Amino acid sequence: MSKLLLSIFFLFAISFSACSDNDKLELPTDSEQAEGNEDSDEDESEQPPFSGTGRYLILYASRSGTTERVAQLIQSTLNCDILEVEPTSPYESDYNAMLTRAQNELRDIGNGIFPSIKTSVESFENYDMIFVGYPIWHGHMATPMQSFLNLHSAKLSGKNIALFATSGSSGMSTSLTEAQKYCTNSTFIETLHLTSSTIPDMQNRVTNWLLSIGVVEENQNTESMDIKLTFNDHTLTATLVDNSSTKALMEILAERDIIIEMEDYANMEKVGPFGFSLPRNDEQITTTEGDLILYQGNSFVVYYAPNTWSFTRLGKINNIAQGELKTMLGSGNVTMRLSRK
Ligand SMILES: Cc1cc2nc3c(=O)[nH]c(=O)nc-3n(C[C@H](O)[C@H](O)[C@H](O)COP(=O)(O)O)c2cc1C
Repeated sequence: MSKLLLSIFFLFAISFSACSDNDKLELPTDSEQAEGNEDSDEDESEQPPFSGTGRYLILYASRSGTTERVAQLIQSTLNCDILEVEPTSPYESDYNAMLTRAQNELRDIGNGIFPSIKTSVESFENYDMIFVGYPIWHGHMATPMQSFLNLHSAKLSGKNIALFATSGSSGMSTSLTEAQKYCTNSTFIETLHLTSSTIPDMQNRVTNWLLSIGVVEENQNTESMDIKLTFNDHTLTATLVDNSSTKALMEILAERDIIIEMEDYANMEKVGPFGFSLPRNDEQITTTEGDLILYQGNSFVVYYAPNTWSFTRLGKINNIAQGELKTMLGSGNVTMRLSRK
């Protein structure tokens, strides 16, 4: 990612010096225009074209952050370049206004007029595979991504494209057809689709998808970040996030199980001392049920209700129904055994 930031910085630096030296100098975005955007009056790119390097590139559009979370999960697994495709005119914050705008834009696209976007990519040459993520709007691929694919179809020729989409419940097959229409010479591989009922299982779904399309190997699989929690008569699994805290924890778990005496606190968590310290990666977090947290670098916390605080995310318990964890944990103390799965 540092390469990506550097290249963006470099391109911004070029754009600034170009403007100050001679404001007629243009950024090299015009190749995009030449590729036939019907909405050429409006589509002066506001951002310099992206030119990253790496095996994989993740492109995503996201209005409310769900597709972005999927994109970030893929990015953290593959440690690759990532770029948001943004509309020139910001998304409507009002949902109903957004519904109407999307409907109008989809109608315009049907008439060959594409809404303007401010994102462009110089070249995909270095990439083996391009991940393209978007929400489903009115059964279709969200319009900014349609504009992007339409503008970049020639450059995407011969490339492998992996589509991923999120929606409330609608399928993504129409959007696959749309992508194939724009990128006639690209190869589309198996897609990933998450709906509101499968989004809570995002981590597993993404991992399994990346495995099945062959971009991660079994031994790279985040399954190796899975742990077992045993308490009362229950055994649950949890998937740890990838940070220096969980790496240190996994190293200890490779040697031995960890047993923690946990107390109930404030009717929202069980908390107990690890008996050792782990590296901290504190950030402001609002917890949800099943979150595993490192508190002050030395305490293990299992949340069954929300709390907002600055602490380190360790992971999340898999496959629990709403309210189930609280019942399993009970109201009193628990002895928790952590072990490698
Ligand atoms: C304009 C608009 C249209 C939508 N149309 C659909 C739809 O047809 N079917 C559906 O299941 N969800 C629909 N949704 C819900 C989104 O697809 C879903 O919330 C998605 O996960 C949002 O992704 P994002 O947070 O990355 O923007 C729509 C949302 C918006 C804003």
